[in-house]
Amino acid sequence: MKIGIDRISFYTSQYFLDLKVLAEARGVEPDKFYVGIGQEKMGIPPPDEDIVTLAANAASPLKEQGELDNVEALLFATESGIDQSKAAGLFVHALLGLPSRCRVVELKQACYSATAALRFAMGLVAMKPTSKVLIIASDVARYALGSPGESTQGCGAVAFTVSVDPRLLAIDPEAGFYAEDVMDFWRPNYLSEALVDGKYSTLVYIKALKAAWDFYVEESGRSLGDFKRFCYHIPFTRMAEKAHQKLDKGISPEALEEVLGESLLYSRNAGNCYSASLYVGLCSLLDNSVDDLSGHRIGLYSYGSGCVGEFFSGVVQPGYRSSRFDQAHQQLLAKRTELTFQQYEDIYHYGIPTDGGDHVFSQYRTGPFRFSGIQQHKRIYAPR
Ligand code: CAA
Repeated sequence: MKIGIDRISFYTSQYFLDLKVLAEARGVEPDKFYVGIGQEKMGIPPPDEDIVTLAANAASPLKEQGELDNVEALLFATESGIDQSKAAGLFVHALLGLPSRCRVVELKQACYSATAALRFAMGLVAMKPTSKVLIIASDVARYALGSPGESTQGCGAVAFTVSVDPRLLAIDPEAGFYAEDVMDFWRPNYLSEALVDGKYSTLVYIKALKAAWDFYVEESGRSLGDFKRFCYHIPFTRMAEKAHQKLDKGISPEALEEVLGESLLYSRNAGNCYSASLYVGLCSLLDNSVDDLSGHRIGLYSYGSGCVGEFFSGVVQPGYRSSRFDQAHQQLLAKRTELTFQQYEDIYHYGIPTDGGDHVFSQYRTGPFRFSGIQQHKRIYAPR
């Protein structure tokens, strides 16, 4: 029985900051960002967009096409939680009008949790092959202004369904994983931005990759030559390239571009989407691959600081091209509004009110759903 990703939809904020503008404001060469870290633009959410609206806006095209009718679980992956108790997925469940016969839960392990959700979903679908699971990964990547991490911010969500006979990617049963308690990146409950030991985090990312890959090879007996393309967790695109160069030592720049380049296009322009980033890369690959990937195996590496890494794989399904949302994704990225540096800093400082009062938020550009305000300590979400 084949189980895997049936449909996948990506959404990011309708506003971005060009990293050339950030470079000028911070007095660094634009190429440090464009070339050194491999990022051009970062998605910035306006005050009426948060992880719930990003998630609902990502899942909305699936709903419109009737893909969510027999969803029996909504697994919401995030590290930008909005409540200490209630799962963000319940707001999305209501906005999308999902059936009440549905399990809803939120999962956290930095940028890794959507991959855990995928494995859990495969188990649920194996037990009941007529059912589907909806996974949504949604995050806002936020670091202190002026810090080294600032240029690696971003935001976005992916929503994907897991089912038998998937139309996009059948996931292989083999996987290699690795866990270690490290402090490379974390966010204490009293902060709205992450703390990070930047250089160390890049080393742990690679260490976990090597360990997960070795385990995967033991489990599957496969080698690098078995893969047509690779998708990595993408905190910034240069990180994915460096990681792959560690696995495939001596790979030429041309070959690196061929196996990785198409998966990096969306992240280069949306920025880090934390738990969604690997799957943003998968969307980017499936949408933009010049070659028909039908029947080919791709390798995927998921990394969540703290840390857990997992290497797994899947086979792209024949006819996958007619089940994509490629045009919608490309239009979304092309039609965003550019922010000035002042607007970026104003939005950064605005934050979500924490005074316990009632608030009504101004309306900005969003997808079909927006975060309209707070009343009696309750977040209010509404159609746009
Ligand atoms: N032209 C071209 N390249 C230039 C340049 C120029 N004018 N100026 C600098 N560069 C290059 C540098 O040589 C460097 O390249 P190498 O790494 O190949 O040497 C690159 O640009 C970056 O420069 P720095 O190393 O000086 O950058 P930095 O120290 O200011 O910041 C960072 C880099 C530490 C990654 C920082 O962006 C950061 O802390 N980011 C957040 C943490 C992160 O994303 N970690 C990734 C692994 S953890 C993870 O994946 C989980 C997650 O999502 C957070």
